[in-house]
Amino acid sequence: MTDLGRAIPAATTTSEIDWSAQHCGVHQAHVSELVRLMPDLAALIATFPGDANRFTWDVKVHMLMPRMFPCIPNWHRDFIPRESGVQRPELASDAEIWMWLSGPPLTEFRNGFVRAKQWFRFTPKDEHRGTPSGDFCWRGFIRAVDSEFMPPKIGDNLRRHSQVYLDSENYMW
Ligand SMILES: [Fe+2]
Repeated sequence: MTDLGRAIPAATTTSEIDWSAQHCGVHQAHVSELVRLMPDLAALIATFPGDANRFTWDVKVHMLMPRMFPCIPNWHRDFIPRESGVQRPELASDAEIWMWLSGPPLTEFRNGFVRAKQWFRFTPKDEHRGTPSGDFCWRGFIRAVDSEFMPPKIGDNLRRHSQVYLDSENYMW
């Protein structure tokens, strides 16, 4: 079993982030690029419990309607190596990953749900799944992964797309 459940409350910030006013996010960015592109997140990133410079950062912003999933709905692991397109979970590393969610829908791990507004540590071996939104809302998701495992992408880190997951049974407008 990996180090699940090590949730650390983020320090209280004086103002809430207005996610509707942010960029779509960043993709595999160094923390300096994250803060340059999304300066409203600087105070929150300052509460990160590790050395932010040693991590590669992703941010995704979603506008959700009821029944939309902001992340993969089925049980899966992050950063699983593939060979010829096929996942090889037995090759998963113990790389340090952290996530932070602004609010529901909450990501579910095998042992329970991640709490909103807390830094939560996991690894590529920890299965989890997205859950559907119950409301009309904006949601911010932040993920940091050990940069020795995955170095920041050089170049433009501004995220261009942010998908939701649906099926025809659940689609509504
Ligand atoms: Fe995931």
